[in-house]
Amino acid sequence: MSDTEPRLNLTYRPRRLRRTDAIRRLVRETEVRVNDLIHPLFVIDGDGAEEPIDSMPGQSRFTIKGLVDECLKLRDLGIPGVGLFPKLDSSLKTACGKEALNPETLVLRAVRAVKAAAPELAIITDVALDPYTSHGHDGVLTEDGQDVANDATVEILCDMAKLNAEAGADFVAPSDMMDGRIGAIRSALDDSGMTNTAIMAYSAKFNSAYYGPFRDAVGSAKAAGTNLLGKHTYQCDPANRRAAVIETELDEMEGTDVLMVKPAGAYLDIIRELRNRTSLPVAAYQVSGEYSQIHAAAKLGWLDYQRTRDESLLAIKRAGADMILTYFAKEIAAE
Ligand code: PBG
Repeated sequence: MSDTEPRLNLTYRPRRLRRTDAIRRLVRETEVRVNDLIHPLFVIDGDGAEEPIDSMPGQSRFTIKGLVDECLKLRDLGIPGVGLFPKLDSSLKTACGKEALNPETLVLRAVRAVKAAAPELAIITDVALDPYTSHGHDGVLTEDGQDVANDATVEILCDMAKLNAEAGADFVAPSDMMDGRIGAIRSALDDSGMTNTAIMAYSAKFNSAYYGPFRDAVGSAKAAGTNLLGKHTYQCDPANRRAAVIETELDEMEGTDVLMVKPAGAYLDIIRELRNRTSLPVAAYQVSGEYSQIHAAAKLGWLDYQRTRDESLLAIKRAGADMILTYFAKEIAAE
């Protein structure tokens, strides 16, 4: 520094710790690890080719055989878990979603196949009726057809959870947001001797527009005939933080093993709030819309793909998530 350069008389200069790459690495507080990542995957029946999902660049629906190959790759990349989501032929969808309780339904065959081929992977299955209902809702409807029936849905979810557990799921993940389902599912699993199957509760799942591409992927929007399927009476209101906290407290009291916040990026305050309140592991689901918007902006040349992707995940980790469900998992692990 020359004598002529101005010099403030400062005791604290935080920039000292950002001066070199080595120093920045030493003081870095957060790192996304491959061990934190869960890859959501879509599965279809048949033995054709994989089906690319238009609204989710880089993601496909796999047949069971393709799914197994993909899972072996993910395992070899060190990813600890996968979440499986079936897309059913529309001929199998009914108002009451009864295909969900078929002991040979697609997702159960997929779980068995993945478990047999890659027993090291943790398998997480979604427990909700939306892939199975003709209206696309997560449960069965009330008699007047105006709402989703809570208690009748919970009964079905318990049977669904048992089937998933028997097939080999390590976690069942109720994503339906019915009241009382965690306690009911825990009892149902325990009564059937499946005390080791864990529950990852979609506890603070918001009624979000960010699920749009996922609904294309599993066909739940098409089934409902609209992309605007409203789940206001069961999913959390995006405006409400305290209501979301109550949901997570109930799930914890009812015996969940892991709490989840979903979506992730627009709900970092909720992730942080939970991290400060609970000793349970907190999962965050970076959902389809979060993934697709980064791809779309990058395609337009408006955002740098890799940096935006990495920053989005870092922010979720920094907010307090222990594990992240993300469609970016494979490519991150591969880099
Ligand atoms: C269904 C379910 C949804 C997602 C996971 N499980 C969508 C919904 O509630 O309509 C969304 C995941 C994503 O957008 O990536 N119960």
